[in-house]
Amino acid sequence: MKNIAVEVVDIQNVTPLVKQFTLMNKNNSELPSFSGGSHIVVSMNLENRLIKNPYSLMSSPFDTKIYKIAILKQGKSRGGSLFMHERIFIGSELKISYPVNFFPLFKKAKKHILIAGGIGITPFISQLYELNKSKLNFEIHYSFRSNNLGAFVNEIKKTYKNHVNLYCDENNEFMDFEKILKNQPLGTHVYVCGPKSMICVLKNIAINLGWPSNHIHSEQFISPPVGEAFNVYLAKSKKEIIVDSEISLLEAIENAGVKADYLCRGGSCGKCELEIIENDGIVYHNDNYLTEIEKNLGKKILPCVSRANSSSLILNI
Ligand code: FES
Repeated sequence: MKNIAVEVVDIQNVTPLVKQFTLMNKNNSELPSFSGGSHIVVSMNLENRLIKNPYSLMSSPFDTKIYKIAILKQGKSRGGSLFMHERIFIGSELKISYPVNFFPLFKKAKKHILIAGGIGITPFISQLYELNKSKLNFEIHYSFRSNNLGAFVNEIKKTYKNHVNLYCDENNEFMDFEKILKNQPLGTHVYVCGPKSMICVLKNIAINLGWPSNHIHSEQFISPPVGEAFNVYLAKSKKEIIVDSEISLLEAIENAGVKADYLCRGGSCGKCELEIIENDGIVYHNDNYLTEIEKNLGKKILPCVSRANSSSLILNI
């Protein structure tokens, strides 16, 4: 996939754990257009390994002079968020992908209900620009752990005051999904982004209340998790590779010079799916794309986020 060279032109400390980065095209021209809910993939050179993480675009889709992304500093991770927090400064250069959108607004909806948990607020910020400009009917519900960890709370409250409902765990304020989803006008769509447990609970409640499944939209990008190193044989390419503990299977395949498909790099789109020809161990399916049946059958793996523990894993690539 083609990359764009960008320069970091501004960095803001949004909370003690979240930094916002403003990016501009290195050649000063406009960046590619995008719609609310899109994400980009940022390439990071960490010493001797290249890792690529997806981040939601949270700037206005009506201003493509800049892109903004916000990154949560994560303790137990492959080092991508730490790299961005500690090694990227104003003036740093980064390579990013073109924007892709797996979480768009359904523009013909009668009403839009946005539900965010923690850093899951980021894709909604670009969508809010669209909803506000088009004067569409919407409400946003945003929950966060504590008053000092709620990212962009003041901006959202100020700009969308008639639409916003805030819930701070520290103040014992919690969302009541049933109350939020009940008695909404026919044709309403709900969008949820946050921790997996939150997405599951909301979806179950919506289905039990009779919401059509195609009116329920969710996004949960998973950062490729760390794990034990393992070996893989790439049958078509005739290459044996080692997937080290801090790189993903997809990155290991790419680092071996083998071309692999991908879009989200976060376990959501299915574009990177590979066929498992042989496996004598366990596959850790970390994606939220394959069905439970497909995961149990063990014939497919999404290498952007999934790992394995086996002595012989052979993939059809
Ligand atoms: S690239 Fe989207 S699921 Fe792997």
